[in-house]
Amino acid sequence: MAPSGVYTLRADTDRTPGPSTAAMDAAAEILRDLGRDPPRLSPKFLYDARGSALFEAITALPEYYLTRTEADILSSRVDDIRKRVGQGRTVIDLGAGTGAKAITLCRLIRPVCYVAVDIAPEVLKVVSTRLGDLFPDFPIHVVAADLCDRIALPREIPRARRLAFYPGSSLGNFDPPEAEALLSRVRGVLGEDGVLLMGIDLVKDVVPLEAAYNDVAGVTAAFNLNILGHINGLVGSNFDSRDWRHRAFFNGDRSRMEMHLEAAVDVKVRWPGGGRDFSRGERIHTESSYKYRIEDVETMLGRAGFGFSVNWTDERGWFAVFLASVDPVWPAGGGE
Ligand code: AVI
Repeated sequence: MAPSGVYTLRADTDRTPGPSTAAMDAAAEILRDLGRDPPRLSPKFLYDARGSALFEAITALPEYYLTRTEADILSSRVDDIRKRVGQGRTVIDLGAGTGAKAITLCRLIRPVCYVAVDIAPEVLKVVSTRLGDLFPDFPIHVVAADLCDRIALPREIPRARRLAFYPGSSLGNFDPPEAEALLSRVRGVLGEDGVLLMGIDLVKDVVPLEAAYNDVAGVTAAFNLNILGHINGLVGSNFDSRDWRHRAFFNGDRSRMEMHLEAAVDVKVRWPGGGRDFSRGERIHTESSYKYRIEDVETMLGRAGFGFSVNWTDERGWFAVFLASVDPVWPAGGGE
């Protein structure tokens, strides 16, 4: 039987004091993006410890239908999923966050090993404790990694029967070419018997879409504004969140929800060695959330090297869960 326990495989917090290479790369990326016209920030910087907690709160909001709809699809398709996925899987949870969705999946398919991959070392501590307490019968690994880079898993992770789990429509936060490149990297991490279980938000009427990113309680606004405090810590800038307003709207031409921070007044931001002045009304683009059609996702999966996929949607056709296999024929151990 595999040993039980929690293993931290790579985390910036374990390194010697001083900025890590990852922190220096992040700072360079932030300053480059703030210098662009229009300025932007990568949505990955929304997720420090507070941002991850705010995102978890968003998933429970009445307006944010994505998480609930995905959970309903997963629970109503339990038997199909179990049958196709089979036994003895190693779950690789991409962008694990605090592990809330992984708990449901692990109860469903009882893996032999669970690997949480996330950019935020702080949340990996939470996920390892949470999952380790709940599931003492299989090993839990955590890997601090940016999904925008090569996904390198340590040798200890079993190679056979891997299942990549990418829920919550997180793929939608990448522009389509990057989304396809990410799927190819995921394909590279899976062996020939690997499968991908992924949730994708679909194109729909603009009213529920815009409501989902403009909740009445203001949690999404707090989540968006929190990026400023995070980047102040990373680059030493002096953004003041009180000078900025949350804006979220659907861009129909690009089939995506967009989140921006809009300057409420003229703002002068400074950081060591530089700065930028923003005029009132100027915006920093902080997130895109693409909404796809089923056929678009199937095409992307095929181009990324997946051989076969099935999908399930809710009654309204708002959200889809895809199960894709590397093998064009459904792999042994699953199938109907
Ligand atoms: C994580 N990601 C899929 C969420 C989304 O819907 O794009 C992040 C989010 N942004 C605003 N609300 C939630």
